[in-house]
Amino acid sequence: MEKMAISQEFWHGKKVFITGHTGFKGSWLALWLQKLGANVCGYSLPEKSIPSHWNLLNLNIRSEIADIRDSQRLEKIFREFQPEIVFHLAAQALVRASYREPVETYSTNVMGTLHVFEACRKTDSVKAIVNVTSDKCYENKEWNRGYKEEDAMGGHDPYSSSKACSEILTASYRNSYFPTQEYGIKHHTLLASCRAGNVIGGGDWAEDRLIPDIMRSVAKGSLVEIRNPRAIRPWQHLLEPLSGYLLVARRLWEGKTELATGWNFGPSSIEAISVEQVVKYVKSHWDKIDYRLATSAGAPHEASILKLDCSKAHKQLGWSPVWDVAVGFEKTVRWYREFYEYGNLLTESDISSYMKQIKPEWGAL
Ligand SMILES: NC(=O)c1ccc[n+]([C@@H]2O[C@H](COP(=O)([O-])OP(=O)(O)OC[C@H]3O[C@@H](n4cnc5c(N)ncnc54)[C@H](O)[C@@H]3O)[C@@H](O)[C@H]2O)c1
Repeated sequence: MEKMAISQEFWHGKKVFITGHTGFKGSWLALWLQKLGANVCGYSLPEKSIPSHWNLLNLNIRSEIADIRDSQRLEKIFREFQPEIVFHLAAQALVRASYREPVETYSTNVMGTLHVFEACRKTDSVKAIVNVTSDKCYENKEWNRGYKEEDAMGGHDPYSSSKACSEILTASYRNSYFPTQEYGIKHHTLLASCRAGNVIGGGDWAEDRLIPDIMRSVAKGSLVEIRNPRAIRPWQHLLEPLSGYLLVARRLWEGKTELATGWNFGPSSIEAISVEQVVKYVKSHWDKIDYRLATSAGAPHEASILKLDCSKAHKQLGWSPVWDVAVGFEKTVRWYREFYEYGNLLTESDISSYMKQIKPEWGAL
């Protein structure tokens, strides 16, 4: 088993394209890659939330504000930038919004992904592509065991189903245009997909997500209504899956054909906890939170249990979570407290402390 490693030597100077850089995960990834010395180009719609983590970071990277469904614009930026590594994160990423806007959700998450793959196919410099989907891509059977990478794709709501479609599209592009058995002969691009669970961390202000809903109400001093309190999810700090995406991308770039597959990144199964437990964790770090548990009558369907089996990433990538769920929540609540009470941004120091814990000899970023 190889040791988990995210090295500055590798990332320094690499040309990296991120779709969705104005979003929650994308903005953290852009900062992390910039700190590792990569040459980053982001491509996204404008930031939606106020405040916006992307705006607060004020990063000095190339930022293209455009739609992934605009294939001409996308391909033009690919031609200009000539990326080596592509992280595709842009998506309509919310379950509830997908019920309201199914066409928007499928057109972005499926056709948008198709346009990103086409831009990659037409740009010779691209060596590694990581498509970020979701743990919700699996056909949910309300199993108590974690889903494995080879389990069936499915998706009850439009968002989950669109992510399953994105997975099927990934497999088709890999088979049709980037087959691993022809790598180094007919092409030099490897394509993988990554499925992670519910992520937490500072700087998320999306609508209808548990932590942002709680933090907004704490900031306003109002009561927050907690829906689906018994739903169990594999919560993890967002730096955990981001470290997985970085590892996969690096291994693909190095030509490890056997790793051009689907990957789960999640906490150990004992750390999949209920929404109600999450609220209690948060309250233990910031007692200002005032909440009421809602009844789920009349709410749109959401799976009640969802766990991931991540043994493949442990064995084949040497990846494993660095922070357990308690540390993840502590870091997250501290991020928002510092922001709301003192105007501080802890993003960079969270990345530094995370990196020190995976490999102490890296030292500071
Ligand atoms: N946050 C989570 O808990 C979670 C869990 C599993 C999977 N994911 C996946 O991770 C990825 C990132 O999620 P996030 O939480 O950062 O979401 P987010 O909503 O914060 O960010 C989405 C990003 O996509 C961009 N985008 C949306 N539609 C676009 C379009 N048509 N063209 C160009 N850009 C567009 C937005 O501008 C934004 O930058 C998504 O693919 C999401 O499905 C997120």
